[in-house]
Amino acid sequence: MSPAVTVRGLVKRFDTGRAETVEAVRGIDLDVSAGEVFGFLGPNGAGKSTTINMLCTLTAPTAGAAKVAGYDVQAERDDVRRNIGLVFQETTLDGYLSAEQNLRFHAELYGVPRATLSDRLRQVLEMVGLWERRKSKVTTFSGGMKRRLEIARGLLHSPRVLFLDSRPSASIHRPAARSGATSASCGAPMTSRSS
Ligand SMILES: Nc1ncnc2c1ncn2[C@@H]1O[C@H](COP(=O)(O)OP(=O)(O)OP(=O)(O)O)[C@@H](O)[C@H]1O
Ligand SMILES: [Mg+2]
Repeated sequence: MSPAVTVRGLVKRFDTGRAETVEAVRGIDLDVSAGEVFGFLGPNGAGKSTTINMLCTLTAPTAGAAKVAGYDVQAERDDVRRNIGLVFQETTLDGYLSAEQNLRFHAELYGVPRATLSDRLRQVLEMVGLWERRKSKVTTFSGGMKRRLEIARGLLHSPRVLFLDSRPSASIHRPAARSGATSASCGAPMTSRSS
């Protein structure tokens, strides 16, 4: 099985347009094996989100190379996207839809087969302890419940690599954190942790 993530000399510079360049990521190397849970720590502004954005093909590296699930983040972007799940730092749920509707919308976008969708929905919602609340609108959820729903959504299409650009300790408390729902039991090799 190919490694979950391989990064070599990854650099990202932002041209801020005022003859000023921000070097957000200054040449990093890392290897994450399949099945490994990898925590990526650093202070605010250290470049964690920028790194995740490059690995998820949302922004192009300035230099260096990276492979995710065996695919090159620049040359094989569609393959990378098909094989990853991503939980953004800021919530991206639709508050006016129910938990289940948010997940069904995501399943549609990712082409989750209809035949397996019901079972999979139940599996991920039970895993994060939200099965009983599946019909509730997301606006009625607490911060931690929204976070857990986003993790369920990130796992819905059974990605090979899950990226969590989040503070795992923020919002998520027992019993969800204790159940291992954020990573280990889901086969999620990589997490990013804000300070
Ligand atoms: N689109 C952008 N244009 C210009 N500068 C940017 C852009 N995105 C990020 N940066 C800069 O890159 C640096 C790293 O930002 P990044 O968001 O990756 O940090 P982070 O480690 O995720 O921080 P936090 O813990 O606060 O989430 C910061 O100096 C930030 O201002
Ligand atoms: Mg960040």
